[in-house]
Amino acid sequence: MNQIELIKALPKAELHVHIEGTFEPELMFEIAQRNKIDIPYQSVEDVRQAYDFHNLQSFLDIYYAGANVLVYEQDFYDLAWAYFEKCAEDHVVHTEMFFDPQTHTDRGVPFATVIQGLKRACDDAQTKLGISSHLIMCFLRHLSEEAAFQTLAQALPYKNDIIGVGLDSSEVGHPPSKFERVFAKAREEGFLIVAHAGEEGPAEYVWEALDLLKVNRIDHGVRSEEDAQLMQRLVQDKMPLTVCPLSNLKLRVVDDMADHNIRRLLQQGVHVTVNSDDPSYFGGYMNDNFIAITEALDLSEDELKQLAINSFEASFISSEIKQSWITKIQAL
Ligand code: HPA
Ligand code: ZN
Repeated sequence: MNQIELIKALPKAELHVHIEGTFEPELMFEIAQRNKIDIPYQSVEDVRQAYDFHNLQSFLDIYYAGANVLVYEQDFYDLAWAYFEKCAEDHVVHTEMFFDPQTHTDRGVPFATVIQGLKRACDDAQTKLGISSHLIMCFLRHLSEEAAFQTLAQALPYKNDIIGVGLDSSEVGHPPSKFERVFAKAREEGFLIVAHAGEEGPAEYVWEALDLLKVNRIDHGVRSEEDAQLMQRLVQDKMPLTVCPLSNLKLRVVDDMADHNIRRLLQQGVHVTVNSDDPSYFGGYMNDNFIAITEALDLSEDELKQLAINSFEASFISSEIKQSWITKIQAL
């Protein structure tokens, strides 16, 4: 088996994917039409041309605009179902998906509509495709602490359907410390905790995510390498980083995939995983991300297996199920 065949054969867990970021232009057009909502594009080609990002904010502006056509429960179902079909193609057998409730509730879409559509797709993915999943809701960090508290309150009736709480959107200028109190409340309510940190923001934000939000995983975290003490802490705590290589390239966190630090992080003992972030916008799903780093960094078969094992170890599934996937990986 060569490396590409191994990538395809490996069972994998995805731990960093924004469901709104899986919105393919074809589906966006279809839903816009049936909901009679105008979008500022003439064609699918037109949409792809607009995906000309040079940093996180220029991406987010387009990403939030695309989400505007999502109104009904069926829209959220269709969005998530299309993503699950991609998971099946890439042998992603478990996924922990982010959703951004505020992107929808701020447009008048009820929280219940969002969660019910996503949950129904998750249930169908388990029965029809054998793919397990969890939902993680993210607070938009460019909005206020008070708005995050309101969102947390809206989520409480759906506690059993939401495994964790995360933090996303514009990082610089919105440090984790801004949300320390709301994350404390989320932990009290029994949610697991993740946060985007160290994507565009400095290593200091990763420290805050660890010490103030008390995260179970760091999303991105690639800038941790700038701080030797932080690197020690990540290794010592076996703290997972959910790294997103194609996202980092597209948003110019790295200039060239050959400069990506995922292999160095792995070699230094950091618990890194591979993920797609916003695959419709960044040029690829799980296997595309694996292939891109393998080609640029010449990853060995053992390193590829380790990345897949890490994805299960860092996931929020039971230790028995983790172990059974890891055993399958080791047997490849
Ligand atoms: N970073 C921050 N917020 C986001 C991202 C990201 O990569 N994707 C969607 N929202
Ligand atoms: Zn992300």
